[in-house]
Amino acid sequence: MTAVNPSVGESFRRRLLGGVASSLRRGCGLGTGRYARDVGNVYYQPGQARSRRVEDLFARIARRYDLLNDLQSLGLHRGWKRRFVRMAEVKEGDRALDLCCGTGDIAKALADAGASVVGLDFSEPMLEVARSRSAARGNSAAGRMAFCRGDAQSIPFPEASFDVVTVAYGLRNLADWELGLEEMWRVLRPGGRLLVMDCGKPGNPIWRGLYYAYLKCWVPLLGRVVGGDAQAYSYILESLKYYAAQEGVTRKLSELGSPDVLEVNLMGGAMSLHRGRKGEGGR
Ligand SMILES: C[S@@+](CC[C@H](N)C(=O)[O-])C[C@H]1O[C@@H](n2cnc3c(N)ncnc32)[C@H](O)[C@@H]1O
Repeated sequence: MTAVNPSVGESFRRRLLGGVASSLRRGCGLGTGRYARDVGNVYYQPGQARSRRVEDLFARIARRYDLLNDLQSLGLHRGWKRRFVRMAEVKEGDRALDLCCGTGDIAKALADAGASVVGLDFSEPMLEVARSRSAARGNSAAGRMAFCRGDAQSIPFPEASFDVVTVAYGLRNLADWELGLEEMWRVLRPGGRLLVMDCGKPGNPIWRGLYYAYLKCWVPLLGRVVGGDAQAYSYILESLKYYAAQEGVTRKLSELGSPDVLEVNLMGGAMSLHRGRKGEGGR
């Protein structure tokens, strides 16, 4: 039988109650003006200074990132990511770049599908988790993965280097998401696929209100209880506020020259997947 340390249970209980109490104190207002004020967040800063804050945030949560992702989405993100990778239509031998790769789960799925993959992220602690996972697997797909540190807004590769370029839950975090998409487009070869997955803004106002309330109340509470940091998780809603989401990504991919843009909305638009293609002529 496993001995249970009573102080661990007690500390968890205190954090849970403390989290509920402070969430209730702050309230869960749904109006955009009210929520904009309430979720004002230490990790959000306008302009390019934002990158430093975002880097701090992911350095803090790297070790618990995957657990919290599973808890927040009840594991659903795994299925969404499988669908996202299928949309990339990877062929054996494709070269793929996964931006804002975090702990490397999209890179791994792309490699399993037959691609040689570079995962790029600016957070060294997130990359450490990705590298140690990949080393622990030690199979042939792991041998097709490499991880490097870099800024998604200034991708350190020449133009037309990749058949597939992906970003999952990363674009929203960039100081300039349009610049991020322009960079992805630049390194995509003619005929290649560009894929974006991120939180969206549901069109239905009731569902949108419920979803924002969930991001505002439940997600930071989980972050506080499990990750010890509510602010890091209230950042999701804060960043969504400044992100053009599905409409903006579809528009930008068309402007970049994608002859067709596939937009898939999941959970009533709470999540969205996009695929653009670069024509063989290079546009
Ligand atoms: C929410 S995580 C997503 C991780 C992973 N793609 C996933 O789907 O779980 C966002 C990641 O973007 C990275 N990131 C944010 N801004 C970045 C930038 N300007 N350049 C490179 N990585 C960035 C963070 O370090 C973090 O690992």
